[in-house]
Amino acid sequence: MDKIRIVGGRPLNGVIPVSGAKNAALPLMIASLLTPETLTLHNLPRLADVSLLVRILGNHGVDYMINGKKPGQTVTSGQTVRLSAEHIVDTFAPYELVAKMRASFWVLAPLLARMGHAKVSLPGGCAIGTRPVDLLLMAMEKLGAQISIEAGYVIAKAPDGLRGGHINFDKVTVGGTHMALMAASLALGHTLIENAAREPEIVDLADCLVKMGARIHGAGTSRIEIEGVAGLKGAEHHVMPDRIETGTYAMAVAMTGGDILLEGARPELLQSALDVLTQVGAHISTTNEGIRVSRNGAGLQAVDVETAPFPGFPTDLQAQFMALMTRAKGSSRITETIFENRFMHVQELARLGAKIRLDGDTAIVDGVDDLQGAPVMATDLRASVSLVIAALAAKGETTVNRVYHLDRGFEHLEAKLSACGADVTRLAQAG
Ligand code: EPZ
Repeated sequence: MDKIRIVGGRPLNGVIPVSGAKNAALPLMIASLLTPETLTLHNLPRLADVSLLVRILGNHGVDYMINGKKPGQTVTSGQTVRLSAEHIVDTFAPYELVAKMRASFWVLAPLLARMGHAKVSLPGGCAIGTRPVDLLLMAMEKLGAQISIEAGYVIAKAPDGLRGGHINFDKVTVGGTHMALMAASLALGHTLIENAAREPEIVDLADCLVKMGARIHGAGTSRIEIEGVAGLKGAEHHVMPDRIETGTYAMAVAMTGGDILLEGARPELLQSALDVLTQVGAHISTTNEGIRVSRNGAGLQAVDVETAPFPGFPTDLQAQFMALMTRAKGSSRITETIFENRFMHVQELARLGAKIRLDGDTAIVDGVDDLQGAPVMATDLRASVSLVIAALAAKGETTVNRVYHLDRGFEHLEAKLSACGADVTRLAQAG
């Protein structure tokens, strides 16, 4: 398994191109199952999760064509993928594939809506909490599906097709809203989704579905209405920029000092995090090309943060923010409200010299003057990158093990950081 070696202490200066968003790309790719025509997605990031989903979709009968680099494009330019689900050959999604990535469970919705049945393994994914699927299944039931769970598999049936219904989520769920949007687009009649997730990735999926012929109103608000249509057609769509990648590099430069242009980033996708970074002491401005983040000289101020569904502070930036707070002046309280077990980075940050105490769903971070490099290992994607941020500012050398977590969600991480002056090297290891 590869490792990443980081020698800390260098500021970041230069340009980091922001990739297409993983968490938009995945549901968009899954939406290809809804139509027999071709869905063309541009700006798709080169990530392990994207490659895995291509394999999963292939099992269902989706043909795909991935374009290579065009002349003039850099290695960080997004790729174009054409997905054609002309014939769905199988509505079964096996444990071996679904257990590796939770989002692949969402194939249940388009398979059920288009074919009237699906058998999908209960999901796996990052070890950040129990992550049940009750709300996802409730949404399908409200659209008329019969659901049973047998031997670790969800069996969903709608022999006469789905029909519109009233879905009221008692907790905001991104995956539940994605599934409800996809299924309701092909259900007979009108669907109302209340307490829908308002994340920008929901809007990106809805925009693409509308291009495919779906009739959706209110995406981006907590009340979405859908008028089902008999069939969807092919479309062409650009994946939105990755707001979590943007926030991650913004925190990295706040940590190391320096001046970075996050090319292609859109501030409205992560305003709450940018506001927090401003309070911390970073200087943030918006340009025609993206977001510019700098910190020169001034120390980091401790700021308290509580994660919340969009437009609140994203749980997917909590670990990175904690890394930043390890070197702030004073004490910061970081409360995680979305996932009950998303503090696995705490003990690894401690290896680098961080002082963090846990009190239920809150981490209290007492800033220290210096971190010290050490070997570390992370258990999930965002936790891994929080260790990278800490390592960039630590004295001496850090090796981050289990880099496959990073490869799931950060495209060309070491190339992007090295180009801005960081000392980051991937150490390839056999086996
Ligand atoms: C999406 O996961 C993201 N994944 C996650 O990003 C992100 O952390 C999360 O939304 C919250 O923003 C993708 O988009 C691929 P949820 P999702 O359903 O949809 C509970 C990353 O690092 N819940 O919004 O799976 C659940 O346990 C990943 O890129 C139920 O109780 O999250 C959690 O507490 C990690 N029952 C809360 O809702 C259900 O049936 C929100 O989860 C479903 C969810």
